[in-house]
Amino acid sequence: MCGIVAYVGHREACPIIIKGLKRLEYRGYDSAGIALMNGDLNVYKKKGKVADLEAFISDKDVHGNIGMGHTRWATHGEPNDVNAHPHYSSSRNIAIIHNGIIENYAALKTLLISKGHTFQSETDSEVFINLIEDIRINNNCTLVEAVRLALHEVVGAYAIVVLSKDDPNQLVAARKGSPLVLGIGKGEYFLASDATPIIEYTNEVVYLKDYELAVIKDGELDIRSKEDIKQTPYIQHLELTLDSIEKGGYEHFMLKEIFEQPRSIMDSMRGRMIVESNHLMMGGIREFENKFANAERILIVACGTSWHAGLVAEYLIEDFARIPVEVEYASEFRYRNPIVRERDIVIAISQSGETADTLAAIELAKSKGATIFGICNVVGSSIARATDAGAYTHAGPEIGVASTKAFTAQVTVLTLISMIIGSKRGTLETSKLHQLMAELENIPAKVEQALALDEQIKRIAAQYQDATNFIYLGRGYNYPVALEGALKLKEISYIHAEGYPAAEMKHGPIALIDEQMPVVVIATKDSSYEKIVSNIQEVRARKGKVIAVVTEGDTTIPTMADHVIEVPETSEHLAPLLSVIPLQLLSYHIAVMRGCNVDQPRNLAKSVTVE
Ligand code: G6P
Repeated sequence: MCGIVAYVGHREACPIIIKGLKRLEYRGYDSAGIALMNGDLNVYKKKGKVADLEAFISDKDVHGNIGMGHTRWATHGEPNDVNAHPHYSSSRNIAIIHNGIIENYAALKTLLISKGHTFQSETDSEVFINLIEDIRINNNCTLVEAVRLALHEVVGAYAIVVLSKDDPNQLVAARKGSPLVLGIGKGEYFLASDATPIIEYTNEVVYLKDYELAVIKDGELDIRSKEDIKQTPYIQHLELTLDSIEKGGYEHFMLKEIFEQPRSIMDSMRGRMIVESNHLMMGGIREFENKFANAERILIVACGTSWHAGLVAEYLIEDFARIPVEVEYASEFRYRNPIVRERDIVIAISQSGETADTLAAIELAKSKGATIFGICNVVGSSIARATDAGAYTHAGPEIGVASTKAFTAQVTVLTLISMIIGSKRGTLETSKLHQLMAELENIPAKVEQALALDEQIKRIAAQYQDATNFIYLGRGYNYPVALEGALKLKEISYIHAEGYPAAEMKHGPIALIDEQMPVVVIATKDSSYEKIVSNIQEVRARKGKVIAVVTEGDTTIPTMADHVIEVPETSEHLAPLLSVIPLQLLSYHIAVMRGCNVDQPRNLAKSVTVE
């Protein structure tokens, strides 16, 4: 986690860095800081949001054309002014910003203390900068050389930028495991954890690779490997637009992203199917179609909301392609001793493409010979590059920490993949495929209809904003949606919520139900409709309050539920794309009514680059 930004060029660095940090605040927001070179190397840092830092520096001299900034999500040491970045070395001659975790920091710290280095903070990052200083003094070498040698000593993940008083026109940056993008402008350079702080100024970017070291000095860029071999940068032209990363009139990014779903779902299927000719194509899967079709098993690894999309895919793939699927939390998979065979296909799902556990799960599966397919939203991200092939979700930048449009985009892409494999294997009949494709094409318009329920959902939210617990129930394709609805609510409103397969309720959660308990039941018309109607009765019998998401025109459930939210009719295989919409809106409105910061909920970060 943490977001980093740096600038060198002809403009004032401070406003560029502050604006960039605000764009990266989704990555962490417990403290922020900035270092500027202006005759001296000045560091200003503050606990709290970037806005608190901005207020703090308002009366300081923040001039300078070179600088760096950091927004933090605490790993080592509580959020306070001292633990905030940048960190000076003991001599205060050099300073660092760091995103990642240095795993051997304790041993390094003990060694450095024995050599006379002093520490102000509890962070691993301060150890890193003192290590660089120590190497520089002992070897009497340049800063660049000292950083390069330090990379051989540290174990863990990092994206770093280092500034030195002695080289006032130089930025030194390096990465391993944590993302770092370099923007190339006209006579100016930008560094950031993702491209959002950069695109306002330039679309030409270089995604630094692991163990690469970038040095920008006197307007020149030099990229070297850890072994000091010069690298030729691969400059990419990004299509990202400024509009796509701003709020566009919505009160919160989360609401904007919820309302973007008709478009993001459309974009995720655009160019990938022609309904009239029953034609499906996905560039990333083309050369792997046979491998997919012959796979003995498909393993899905992911975290959080992406894992829920993986659960939907399990149902889809087994239904359409008849290949056994297992869905794993990446964090569990990587640390047990999983059985992975060469004929297995591993699908890694990640919005950010940077989640450390998912990346590690990919590496593990790769080492066992499996083929890895990635589904990522962020173009050029670490996971997109670490996989053998993949498909982007094209949801556009998702800034709100609680994932919404990324989920529906993932489900859309996974639906297409399941249909491709199913038709390749002959397990999905052409007529059924045609029906599904036609229905999928209608989904964006139906999502639009579901979004029109916003006012009704807001009224329901008002009645339950003070609840302390919620239960979410669903069956079949709507079971992962129940999990996702509960996750959304707890993430942003801090109300305890449990998602359960509806039939499992009687094995435990039913004991929680009383007249105080709101129970959200996703009960759209599908093959288990009759069963879920019985589950609703079970809740009613215990006086629970039922908020039911039903198919338009349902006449049965309205007679037994306290509230009914009607979504358009669709195939049960595509139901998650519609039934999740009211749940996203419900959690959004409850959180807003409770005064919570929905875009930056406490303790969470959008991109979890620590294990
Ligand atoms: C964090 C985010 C979640 C996200 C999860 C996985 O916990 O707050 O919204 O679902 O990471 O992230 P990924 O980028 O791999 O999908």
